[in-house]
Parts: sequence; structure tokens; C-alpha cells
Amino acid sequence: MRHLIDPLDFTTQEINSLLDTADEIAADRKAFSQVCQSKTLATLFYEPSTRTRLSFESAMLNLGGRVLGFASQDSSSAAKGESVADTIRTVSCYADICAMRHPKEGAPFQASRYSRIPVINAGDGGHQHPTQTLTDLMTIRRRRGRLGNLTIGLCGDLKFGRTVHSLLKSLARYEGIRFILISPEELRVPEYLIEEALWAKGIPFVEAEDMERVMDQLDILYMTRVQRERFFNEEDYVRLKDTYILTPEKLRAARPDMSILHPLPRVNEISIEVDEDPRAAYFEQAQNGVYVRMALIMMLLGLSREGAKC
Ligand code: CP
Repeated sequence: MRHLIDPLDFTTQEINSLLDTADEIAADRKAFSQVCQSKTLATLFYEPSTRTRLSFESAMLNLGGRVLGFASQDSSSAAKGESVADTIRTVSCYADICAMRHPKEGAPFQASRYSRIPVINAGDGGHQHPTQTLTDLMTIRRRRGRLGNLTIGLCGDLKFGRTVHSLLKSLARYEGIRFILISPEELRVPEYLIEEALWAKGIPFVEAEDMERVMDQLDILYMTRVQRERFFNEEDYVRLKDTYILTPEKLRAARPDMSILHPLPRVNEISIEVDEDPRAAYFEQAQNGVYVRMALIMMLLGLSREGAKC
């Protein structure tokens, strides 16, 4: 049985194959509408979500399956003190696969140790968000035709942003990747990730504070929101939250074929005028999230397009 806890749990070959399936789904969604008949997905969300939970549910419904779950800690027996281990043992009796979001780093991994069904990490604290990374990779591949030989600008809250951590680890496996890490000093990529994902593999990167000065170098600009819920005090959040606001004026220096990604939700960091720019890819990302999650459910349940075990 396979789980998806960390973005490196799949090889690059497996990711390519999953993205190929996601492309096939995008081209002909109806052809996959019977794949998961009689299968059930549980969504166990201990933290708020719009895209991840609803796209997982949409993915399973599109595959002809069923969904159940909870959308907050308070509406589950976690509010009475139940452990993640006991919850997943119980959910294993009701569902065939589950997606878990939890504020504690490592909670989905802990669940996978006690589970009888595949567990998907749908975001654990400020740690990892591997299915967002699949969404990001699909969007980059469709926009640029490749995942290597790109200069990637990651901008905003690189300290607490779990989507950034997963994307950085994942893209660092492709040839010719170069990162420009754009953040204020306090919100830099954690040292352990710089060492493990970049230094150890000789991946070129620079750290910068001024987005406009590096704009003309970027193939991809990945914007992120400052993660208010991870801050220890409100004053720091208020001071840092509007450090970067992408506007049409700031985009004047950008290449015409650059793509702007954002995992969403957005707060202020991309002005709504940018939405009309053909380089804005963030709502396309949200759409791709359904296709990659359909492909992921099929992969983890070992189901082919015809719904047979493969
Ligand atoms: N990108 C993302 O994880 O969004 P949600 O928090 O709405 O799931």
C-alpha cells in the first residue's frame, strides 16, 4: 500500500506518469467517470480549506466514487480528545482512501503508520503540501512544456509556506533548475531545507528581498500569502503582510512568457488587475488541482482508466 506524505515519496518517473494521466483526464473527463464506482474517499480536515478539500471531493465524485468526512477539528471526535491513530483506524473501516489536513507537522505520517487505507497528506502545519505541488507541476508543465531548465522565483512567506517547501524539494530534482528566493529576512526558507534540498544537491539559488530587481530573470513567479495562522504575534504579521504586492506596473519588467502561480487563497499579494494578464495562471492551477487529484486517487488505489486493478 502506498501513501503520499512527502513530495519525494514518488519518483520523477511516477510523477511524469501521474501528470500524463492528469492531462488525459483534462482532455476527456467523462472517460474516467466510472473508475471509482463503489470506492469511498474520506476527507479528514482538522484545518480550514476551500481548494484542497473541495477539489479532492470533486475528484472522487468525477471518478464515480463517494465522499465522506469532516471539515473541522470541532466537528470530529478530535474535539473530545481522540488521537489521530484511533481516528484513522476507525476511518479505515469506512473508506478506501483518505486525505488529511492537520495543523501539526507529521500528523498525516503518524496516521499512515496506523492506517489500512492509503493516506494523502493534504497539508501538515508549516511543513509540506505534496498535492499542491502536483497541481503546481502540472500547471508549469502545461504552460512551459517542461519541468527542467527553468528559473523559479518563490516570493513571500518562504518560512511558513508549506506549498513552497514541497515545490522547492520537488523541483530540485529536475535538470537545470535555478531558484530565486524572494522574501524579507524574517521569512526566509528554513535553513534545514536550504541544506537538504539545495546545498546538498548543488542546486543554484540566490536570496533576494527586492522582487522588481529580479523580475526579468524569471520563467515562473510563485507568489504566496503571509501565513497569519503560523505567526506567534499579530504585530509581526501586520508588519510583514504587505511586503509584496504584485501589480501590472511591477510586471512591466517581466518576460512575456513568464507564468504567475499562487496556491491561493490570496489576500493582498496579487492585485486583482493582474488577473486579466495572460501570464496569471492561478485559477488554472485550481482547475488542474481536480485533474491531478483524480490521477492521484487512481494511482494510489491501483485503478486503470477502465476501473480495473493495474
Ligand atoms: N492551496 C490550498 O491549499 O488552498 P486551501 O487552503 O483552500 O485548501
